[in-house]
Amino acid sequence: MQHVDMGLPFLANNWLFFLIIFTIYLTCKFVYKHKSLLGNLKTYFNKSTPLLNSNDGDHSHSFNSQETMPHINYIHHIPFLINISKNHNYSKSLLLETAITRSKDYFNLMNSRRSIRFFSSKPVPPLEVMENIIKTAGTSPSGAHCQPWTFVLISNPRIKKEVRNIVEMEEEINYKKRMGEKWVEDLKFARTNWIKEYLETAPYLIIVFKQVYGYQNNNEGMVEKTPFYYQEMSVCIACGILISAIHNAGMVTLTSTPLNSNNKLKRLLNRPDNEKAILILPVGYPAKDATVPNIKRKKLSDIMVHID
Ligand SMILES: Cc1cc2nc3c(=O)[nH]c(=O)nc-3n(C[C@H](O)[C@H](O)[C@H](O)COP(=O)(O)O)c2cc1C
Repeated sequence: MQHVDMGLPFLANNWLFFLIIFTIYLTCKFVYKHKSLLGNLKTYFNKSTPLLNSNDGDHSHSFNSQETMPHINYIHHIPFLINISKNHNYSKSLLLETAITRSKDYFNLMNSRRSIRFFSSKPVPPLEVMENIIKTAGTSPSGAHCQPWTFVLISNPRIKKEVRNIVEMEEEINYKKRMGEKWVEDLKFARTNWIKEYLETAPYLIIVFKQVYGYQNNNEGMVEKTPFYYQEMSVCIACGILISAIHNAGMVTLTSTPLNSNNKLKRLLNRPDNEKAILILPVGYPAKDATVPNIKRKKLSDIMVHID
């Protein structure tokens, strides 16, 4: 009772002081909790990306800005789950016991990968396998988590034939005019030319598109462009993961670059303005008589510099 008697007059005399302290505390708490939201709102309103006009691209594709534009939404941070699965456990003891074996095994697996230019048309890998490997590519890191990629999976024989026609027509010009003598000479070891039979024999083609920018809805509900960061690098990393997933699933592929075929491929596959074709990957199984150039890879000492 004595405490209450002593405390009440003190509180009554200083209530304004306590109210100010409490208000400052609440404001700080609010700003700290919502600082990324406030920052994002500021960037959003200051942003000068132009609105798309009605001729600017094909907007028939659905762009879910809520899902694809995390940088304009408040994202909670959650604990990183260390025991993800039976096969992948970050706990220290397991890592120490198995890291060497697993890293060696993975090296041996990936060291057996080769670029294959002769495909068997059968058997056809199940669609589920193809979906799994593309899902795996989609786990790739990307600049500001923009995920600037589209993987167009083609199994339709007519479309594969059209892709082949486009690529062969451009590649003939590439080999004869655009690439120049040195480049053509440097490719001789691979015995490649503009004839790309594999674009029809492989059961699947994956054409990888990079998204140069994204789309989002602005406050007036109109679609506008939004920048994507490090798109090329992000898509290349995703392609590396895709190639390793293809190999891991027991299939083969060829990293092929559709130089100058982008516009025709985009038209054929009805891709929007923000996309650019960067790779064509035939995917399937090797032909029985498939051959590969007998090339060697650089040694560790040639590719690694250790600064201890
Ligand atoms: C970016 C890139 C572009 C490539 N473009 C082609 C191509 O257009 N045609 C082709 O036959 N091979 C192409 N290749 C495959 C390389 O020739 C092949 O990776 C290299 O010879 C090493 O052989 P390996 O993949 O069997 O280890 C390309 C590879 C990369 C990484």
